[in-house]
Amino acid sequence: METRIKSGVTGLDGILGGGFFPGQTYGITGGPGSGKSILSMEFLVRGAEGGERGLYVTSEVSADKLVRQMPFRDLQGLIDRGDLVVFCTRPQPGEATGDTEKFDLAGLTYMIKHYVRNNGIKRVAFDSVNAFVQQYEDERPLRRAVNDLIGMLESYGCTTLLIFEGSRETATDSLDYMVDGVVELGRLETNQDVVRYAQVRKMRGTSHEMNKRAMEIRENGILITNMKPFFGD
Ligand SMILES: Nc1ncnc2c1ncn2[C@@H]1O[C@H](COP(=O)(O)OP(=O)(O)OP(=O)(O)O)[C@@H](O)[C@H]1O
Ligand SMILES: [Mg+2]
Repeated sequence: METRIKSGVTGLDGILGGGFFPGQTYGITGGPGSGKSILSMEFLVRGAEGGERGLYVTSEVSADKLVRQMPFRDLQGLIDRGDLVVFCTRPQPGEATGDTEKFDLAGLTYMIKHYVRNNGIKRVAFDSVNAFVQQYEDERPLRRAVNDLIGMLESYGCTTLLIFEGSRETATDSLDYMVDGVVELGRLETNQDVVRYAQVRKMRGTSHEMNKRAMEIRENGILITNMKPFFGD
């Protein structure tokens, strides 16, 4: 079996059956505050620290805000050294392009290709794809555009996380079929407690953990515990 790359998220490689396959594309799905951005940033940071440059494609206007929000001390250092590139898809304040996304998915694929080629990017997180999905009324052109994006990233050997925001409509559901794996983040309420979980819903080419696993978000990042599953025992 092909070697895996380390996600950098404690406990995630274990439930993936050994880690992500390099050069493949994965969906990270979950509701608001479920940890999608932190997980994807951790994936990029640990990659960059290990010599794989990262690209974070975000609809957040300000890179400063992003750096402040993420519980990683040296995010700014990685950005300053060019090991982590933040690309914002929204117009910056003062730009005359209105308040919608600057690109459609095809335009964005072109821009991302430019960054990947010029900066030797090996890990990409696209946070999130929802705004771009909503630009398409029909599923066929959407699937074609997503296929083009995935194909481009794979041709450059990038390992990619596509973030899908939760409570998805049919259009984004269908994207689950196009990626090589899907990790769902969520929360469970048990008596008085609310616990976070991570669950691998799909992982092509390997067996993997099927159950929901407890997840914590701490100052230094995410921890998926290797405890007994919540259900099924
Ligand atoms: N330093 C920290 N220590 C502990 N928990 C934190 C810390 N920072 C953030 N969190 C938790 O992580 C959540 C935010 O995680 P994250 O931004 O990754 O969510 P998300 O799934 O991307 O949400 P959205 O869909 O709104 O973008 C916060 O709501 C909080 O519960
Ligand atoms: Mg987020």
